Amino acid sequence: MVRPLAFPFLSTLFVVLMVGTDCRGFEIKEATIDGIQQAFKEGSLTSRQLVEYYLDRIRALNPLLHAVIEVNPDAVRQADRADQERRSGCHPGGGLHGIPVLLKDNIATRDRLNTTAGSFALLGSVVPRDAGVVRRLRRAGAVILGKASLSEWAHFRSFDARSGWCARGGQGRNPYVLSADPCGSSSGSAIAAAANMAAVTLGTETDGSIICPAASNSVAGIKPTVGLTSRAGVIPISPRQDTIGPLCRSVSDAVHVLEAIAGYDPRDEEATLAASKYIPQGGYKQFLKAEGLKGKRLGILRASFFEFSKGSVRRKTFEEHFNTMREKGAILIDNLEITNSSIILDQQSGEEVALLAEFKLSLNAYLSELSYSPVRSLADVITFNNEHSAEEKMEEFGQLVFLAAQNTSGIGPAERSAIAKMTQLSREGLERLMIEKQLDAIVTPDARISSVLAIGGYPGISVPAGYELDGTPFGICFGGLKGSEPNLIEIAYAFEQTTKVRKPPSYKPGKGH
Ligand SMILES: *[C@@H]1O[C@H](CO)[C@@H](O)[C@H](O)[C@H]1NC(C)=O
Ligand SMILES: *[C@@H]1O[C@H](CO)[C@@H](O)[C@H](O)[C@H]1NC(C)=O
Ligand SMILES: *[C@@H]1O[C@H](CO)[C@@H](O)[C@H](O)[C@H]1NC(C)=O
Repeated sequence: MVRPLAFPFLSTLFVVLMVGTDCRGFEIKEATIDGIQQAFKEGSLTSRQLVEYYLDRIRALNPLLHAVIEVNPDAVRQADRADQERRSGCHPGGGLHGIPVLLKDNIATRDRLNTTAGSFALLGSVVPRDAGVVRRLRRAGAVILGKASLSEWAHFRSFDARSGWCARGGQGRNPYVLSADPCGSSSGSAIAAAANMAAVTLGTETDGSIICPAASNSVAGIKPTVGLTSRAGVIPISPRQDTIGPLCRSVSDAVHVLEAIAGYDPRDEEATLAASKYIPQGGYKQFLKAEGLKGKRLGILRASFFEFSKGSVRRKTFEEHFNTMREKGAILIDNLEITNSSIILDQQSGEEVALLAEFKLSLNAYLSELSYSPVRSLADVITFNNEHSAEEKMEEFGQLVFLAAQNTSGIGPAERSAIAKMTQLSREGLERLMIEKQLDAIVTPDARISSVLAIGGYPGISVPAGYELDGTPFGICFGGLKGSEPNLIEIAYAFEQTTKVRKPPSYKPGKGH
């Protein structure tokens, strides 16, 4: 969940970062998966060197950025094994083989890493098995580098909590402007990708939690169609809205990761079976086309989305981007509106009513499945927080969302009617607009569209779009109907390759107090 909030303080930290001597001839910083795989093949880089580089960077940067909660004590060993496999030819390499991945701390791994959603309540719990997406990553030969920080409990404990904060990780920082909101809840994943603390990362989204931190930290984020990626073994909010996706420095890297993690999982049977029909023959990489904007019909949602003040950087930059997209052959259909979108954006869709009940049910189910856990229910977690008030910053943030969720008792008439309302709003809103105007995607700034995509289970891709005068990044989001990832990838990739907005972070203190 996203609740962008004012960022109250920052000590005037200013750190000059000089980390990691790169290996012979190969520049690891900013390296892409394709570049790394090429270097593996040529023998100018090993997976072990890559892992050691990222571990060094995490050691150097994490005291400033608070993006990582734990590193995997077995990461180097896993890298050695990948190197061994490559040398002996018993793994063809390519894809994610030997590539270090950071996972948001709500994604379970059955290894020496903890899975806690950033909370001390789950520290020491033992998961029964890897999450479905982790199983796929391991099968692809990826190295699990560690757990990324997040807004605690994916920002579902209290809307008063600061985004990017969790008890175990502390306050995550935006690497571009340290005093700026990093946004959440996949804050650590986005920060770590932006600051080159991992080759690639995974996040999760219920409403905005991938596309918002992607925009705020100038990385590419894919929020897949709900069910395209398995939610099994991921600390949940809502099976109706939760989805797992990559946050990476480039669209291409994100697509490599999506290709590895998408697919059917018997432990998330219904949703992954329904969405598996969307997975194209030959995977997603075929849609990384430089000419991907050509002939695409893009709906520009102006009202209530692109209303930036005259003379502002955002206004000027987005106008330039629209022109660029036209030059690249896209057909822009301007001034479109989603019927009743204000109902959704003003949180009157029923989303919150449904989420509270779904959270209690699904969290209790997750906790009851753990092989060992100090807490077995939402009620236990609430008690834990009360008993660990200092570490969990209870005085500052409270746990109002938890308390409201605990008050619910399953999916009753109110929840059913809320879900029906969301279905109607989606059908009469985004779906009707996309079909009537024959759109390939809708275009909006940052993560403002997140609730529209969230309540319908629709996908979105966020791509870096620019920087404010003080250096704070902003993004552009391409959204579409369920299963429209191939179109969205073509558009997002071509946009990224044409505009080449992203630059590495500068670690500026910003206007600290
Ligand atoms: C997991 O948490 C335990 C404390 O319960 C700690 O001892 C251990 O080091 C943690 N694992 C990692 C990989 O940090
Ligand atoms: C829980 O329900 C009680 C009784 O309906 C109500 O008084 C209280 O405000 C509710 N608490 C929250 C946090 O919603
Ligand atoms: C959408 O708006 C129309 C009027 O503009 C209204 O009749 C309809 O009930 C609204 N739909 C929902 C789901 O609120």
